[in-house]
Amino acid sequence: MSPNAHSSPRHSRILGTGSFLPADRLTNQALADRLAADGIDTSDEWIVERTGIRARHFAAPDQASSDLALPAAQSALQAAGITADDLDLIIVATSTPDMVFPSTACLLQKKLGAFGCAAFDVQAVCSGFVYALSVADSMIKSGAANKALVVGAEVFSRILDFKDRTTCVLFGDGAGAVVLGVSDTPGILATELHADARHSDILCTPGTVSGGQVLGSPLLRMDGQAVFKLAVGVLEKVARSVLDKAGMTDADIDWLIPHQANIRIMQGTAKKLRMSLDKLIVTVDEHGNTSAASVPLALDAAVRSGRIQRGDTVMLEGVGGGFTWGAALLNY
Ligand code: UT7
Repeated sequence: MSPNAHSSPRHSRILGTGSFLPADRLTNQALADRLAADGIDTSDEWIVERTGIRARHFAAPDQASSDLALPAAQSALQAAGITADDLDLIIVATSTPDMVFPSTACLLQKKLGAFGCAAFDVQAVCSGFVYALSVADSMIKSGAANKALVVGAEVFSRILDFKDRTTCVLFGDGAGAVVLGVSDTPGILATELHADARHSDILCTPGTVSGGQVLGSPLLRMDGQAVFKLAVGVLEKVARSVLDKAGMTDADIDWLIPHQANIRIMQGTAKKLRMSLDKLIVTVDEHGNTSAASVPLALDAAVRSGRIQRGDTVMLEGVGGGFTWGAALLNY
């Protein structure tokens, strides 16, 4: 019998979390005033009522996604009690990378000053962090990695069309990070990822770089109602599916952290999962929609405020462009 025949399975667990928001905080009123100067009509009342957003943070012109990722990563490493030299994997989920290449993960590695470990980006828009976490979890469970840094970092302010009031009031910039490590007991309990590219055009930034020029629009466009309808359906379904995989039911969830895009979608999902709304972690009010950064930003806020405690069962959910969606159920 081989020496490994009775070895217990490898599990992965979140060892620490971190996040970072750029300094420029813009309230709805401040944004509405700016837009009014260009003849665009919106109001704090409309934005709060339709989305739950009250403010968002915008990066400074010289801040790229890797600049927001760095302090978030450092904070997660500190919380995990390790240094960047201990990492053997860095994954950054982003749709607003610093450059075409190298990846934002490689640029983050450079800023962390710890070289040699694998580093790559995951592009799944607002589902990006859940995708990246699932990949890192699989790599840890397979033995391909022991300590992984998983980051969601975005500067969506760079791709917003400030002449389009239906989108420019919704998004913000920021970064969130977790350190994932090997554990004797299950941490990440189950994950599931999906995409349906028949809906690729309802949320996209279709421009591309070619021959030294940007071809097509480099600005985000969204059919909000189409995204809304799809999101409400898939978020409940994928949550139930990962619960099944883990042998749990909705009654076992202590905290729900869905993608922070719209409070109405988030509350609708919580209600479908028969959860009381005080178990729903909400940061969309203060962050807006930060795409791939939204879930780890909310997770870090809930951990640092003491709401999420070690041993709690937490459901993370992403949904967005692609069309992509997914969930990760974890024992924190
Ligand atoms: O990150 C990926 C996931 N993204 C999402 O989950 C976003 C999903 N979608 C949504 O959250 C919502 O669809 C929105 C917040 C984008 C829009 O809310 P809605 O309740 O679907 O509004 P609507 O698009 O039906 O627009 C209602 C009205 C329209 O006016 P009329 O046609 O009724 O006269 C819009 O022109 O609100 C108007 N409107 C605005 N008014 C003031 C749209 N944007 C604004 C605005 N300020 N910023």
